[in-house]
Amino acid sequence: TFVIGAPCVDVMDRSCLQECPVDCIYEGERKLYINPAECIDCGACEPACPVEAIASDRDDDEDFEPFVADAIEFFQTVLPGRDEPIGSPGGARSLGPVAADSSYVRAMPRAGS
Ligand code: F3S
Ligand code: F3S
Repeated sequence: TFVIGAPCVDVMDRSCLQECPVDCIYEGERKLYINPAECIDCGACEPACPVEAIASDRDDDEDFEPFVADAIEFFQTVLPGRDEPIGSPGGARSLGPVAADSSYVRAMPRAGS
């Protein structure tokens, strides 16, 4: 799968969204997350990001390593008023942006703080 890392946090350029043929890049509050169960590994999103926030988990880049588990955790989030975790909704457009982030992203300092 491909993974979105730290440079996306609080930037959220969203250029990646148009590139994904399976619409598996989901929007949280401070960052976007690639659904590891839905990504077909095509790599189209990677060059679209102006801040180089996207990498393959096969790159073994240590900057991205925490974000592999982080993406898994994000899709286990149970949103307020729902009984089930986000899971694999089969399309980010139908879910829309969600007011949630993984615990790792929530713990990251905000720019200027
Ligand atoms: Fe984030 Fe880059 Fe997409 S900043 S929203 S991963 S284009
Ligand atoms: Fe989509 Fe990027 Fe995966 S374009 S299919 S999230 S590699």
